[in-house]
Amino acid sequence: MAAMRASPGVRHLVVAVAVSIAIAGCIDEVPPDASGEQAYAQVCARCHGADLGGGIGPALGAGSRAAARPDSYYQVAITRGIGRMPSFRSTLDEEQVARVIEYIRARQASSQ
Ligand code: HEC
Repeated sequence: MAAMRASPGVRHLVVAVAVSIAIAGCIDEVPPDASGEQAYAQVCARCHGADLGGGIGPALGAGSRAAARPDSYYQVAITRGIGRMPSFRSTLDEEQVARVIEYIRARQASSQ
């Protein structure tokens, strides 16, 4: 019987695989290596528009009120949420948030 029991290493592996499957099933999961553009398209575009023109949320593109705000404002808005916008703390890690902000900044600069 003892030989039938999974070793602790195998049990850890089973748990790790189960957790990965659970996370992968989450619709909002952003790949860790996603670019700022990909993360924006996946998470932000449905409310702020693929062209940053706004929709459910305000416009974020060139000339918008948000364009005049500092990066720290974006960082806080994304991680904590702001007004009716939910927090994305559990969706995006610190680096992904930084990449999304970088992407938005680049778009703001290029469409002016
Ligand atoms: C479910 C819809 C929704 C999603 C998804 C969403 N937002 Fe928002 N966002 C809003 C709304 C609504 C507001 C306005 C909040 C308020 O002031 O009441 C807002 C506000 C903001 C602001 C402040 C704008 C300003 O003019 O002050 C920033 C910056 C922002 N969002 C960035 C993002 C980014 C980046 C993402 C993706 C990580 C994102 N949002 C995803 C709905 C959303």
